[in-house]
Amino acid sequence: LPLMAGVAFLSYLIGSIPFGLVLTALSGNGDIRKIGSGNIGATNVLRTGRKGLAAATLALDGTKGAFAVFCAFVLCPFHTLAAESVAAICVVLGHCFPVWLKFKGGKGVATGLGSVLALMPGVGLCCCALWLIFAKVTRISSAGAIIAFAAMPLLMIRPGRVDFSSPAYLAGVLIALVILIRHHTNISRLLRGTEPRIGQKTP
Ligand code: G3P
Repeated sequence: LPLMAGVAFLSYLIGSIPFGLVLTALSGNGDIRKIGSGNIGATNVLRTGRKGLAAATLALDGTKGAFAVFCAFVLCPFHTLAAESVAAICVVLGHCFPVWLKFKGGKGVATGLGSVLALMPGVGLCCCALWLIFAKVTRISSAGAIIAFAAMPLLMIRPGRVDFSSPAYLAGVLIALVILIRHHTNISRLLRGTEPRIGQKTP
């Protein structure tokens, strides 16, 4: 149990590194929280007009999600799936509620995709595909994210192999819930038809 708590804490800390905020500030583009939607994620970094910076944010936020699951795998060889599942949810919580930013963090899309890819590669790949397809078709990043994570609990159910008590399933449902709740302002803008398209400066 102390090992599991350690994995949870380490994963939270890994998740709490706000790459979008750090990269935007370091590159002289100001405080990302004062731009566009105010979010610290790659979609909002793109609103600065810096595509490379947005791509780096997406890659680093995604990598930290996968990295936390990898750390759990290395640290807990005997209860790997439970530890990896704890890591996957805690790294997303770290990104969404970082202690450094008074618990006001991001929406967890890139980090969630990274952690789910590491925990359940098949489900993760399907989610990435859904996200990319719907973001490209609608030109709205949040629409892609909402559809991908709303579909995730269904994607995890494999015919004949449903195991709702699996820690990975529970982690997946919790990650999807956190990410959907973090998109509540996007959901109301989508319903009002005012959600900005990708790259559009103001939400
Ligand atoms: O990655 C978060 C995305 O789904 C929405 O971001 O900045 O448009 O609220 P944003």
